[in-house]
Amino acid sequence: MTGYTVEGGRKLSGDVTVHGAKNAVLPILAATLLADHSTLLNCPSLTDVNAACNILEHLGCSVVREDNSITVSAESLADCIVPEHLMREMRSSVVFLGAIIARCGKARVSMPGGCELGPRPIDLHLSALEKMGVVVEEEHGYLNCTVPDRLRGATISLTFPSVGATENIMLAACTAEGETVIHNPAREPEIIDLANFLQKAGANIRIVENGTIYIRGVKALRGVEHRVIPDRIAAATYLCAAAVTGGDVLLREVVPAHLFSIFPVLEEAGCSISHVGGAVRLFAPKRPAPFRCIRTMPYPGFPTDAQSPVMAVSCLAKGTSLFVENIFENRYKQAGELMRMGARIKVEGKVAVVEGVAKLHGASVVCTDLRGGASLCLAALAAEGKSEITDIRHIERGYQDFDKNLISLGAIMEKTEFPL
Ligand code: EPZ
Repeated sequence: MTGYTVEGGRKLSGDVTVHGAKNAVLPILAATLLADHSTLLNCPSLTDVNAACNILEHLGCSVVREDNSITVSAESLADCIVPEHLMREMRSSVVFLGAIIARCGKARVSMPGGCELGPRPIDLHLSALEKMGVVVEEEHGYLNCTVPDRLRGATISLTFPSVGATENIMLAACTAEGETVIHNPAREPEIIDLANFLQKAGANIRIVENGTIYIRGVKALRGVEHRVIPDRIAAATYLCAAAVTGGDVLLREVVPAHLFSIFPVLEEAGCSISHVGGAVRLFAPKRPAPFRCIRTMPYPGFPTDAQSPVMAVSCLAKGTSLFVENIFENRYKQAGELMRMGARIKVEGKVAVVEGVAKLHGASVVCTDLRGGASLCLAALAAEGKSEITDIRHIERGYQDFDKNLISLGAIMEKTEFPL
């Protein structure tokens, strides 16, 4: 099994260019189903992006990838069914549902199933689509969606600002009849990037001050060229890599405003952060200060995806840190593996208490999920001695060139084949 061998104990320094956002490119790839030809720029090379392209090709699109651009031609679709093996390749493939229904008037997708973070329900997606005229029947693990009449606009109030549900509603609403209003939508930058793509493609979308989204259906969308925003979570992860090793790192091609809930957290740890234009620099203290209380929240609050990278920093803090994970029910799986490296972590439901130690020691650890796996690498970079990190397929879902970038910052690590 492929993994990383890491020799820890070195400060990271230098600069890294941050890749395009996984969580922006995935819904926008689904949106390309609504137009004829679209080209996306700044697309990251990730296994989740590969999975999304596989779904598009299965549906009958032609997908051409050149460096970090992806061109999708969706003039004629051959299918509106996404089989289980493709749905299971990527948990968030449910975001294709709204676009397939909008384009084909029906869809048959395998239930996305759960993932390492918990059951990942899609009740908010389905109840919204039903309000728009979709009939959903669940049968043997598949969702059979039909539209007996026409997709029609509806006023939808989300009980939770679900990112995926907001995206599915937006994709179904662009060519529906009449107006769709989404109250309490997700407000992540990735939602705005999707809205920008759709507006460029001719959709009639308005997002007002309080976040409510108004979409008036149009007949059809046209293909466009769109540059995907930078990945704010990858950026946060590299900032944490500098913070946990006492380093000095410059990130290029980021949007500082997308990190405004991350900066104060790392400044609380004693890091000094400056940003000019699209570059952010973090200079870390030798040993971080603890985090009084990190609560994960929907955007613009502290993002759940940055919780585990920041937890890696807290393991070496000069004191005790408190985490409250409000978004997912099972997002501390990295704690057990961090404890194998000497971390002192107590998890009680949504709460994790991390008592900082002066040193971590290298160990063999297993990635549990995407961001948890990244946090193990960060801890290994700061630990004394060698670590072996396996099951890095989780990391390759969401970080392009993760090892190459860390090595360019001075990390001693390499990809290694471990016996199964
Ligand atoms: C998106 O997942 C991201 N994935 C996640 O990033 C991110 O952690 C999450 O939003 C929150 O920001 C992509 O964009 C591809 P949600 P999504 O719907 O859309 C509950 C990463 O590491 N919920 O906002 O699945 C759900 O169970 C990934 O890059 C319902 O109860 O997140 C969860 O507790 C991980 N019913 C909470 O809402 C529903 O119908 C947040 O889910 C939908 C969601």
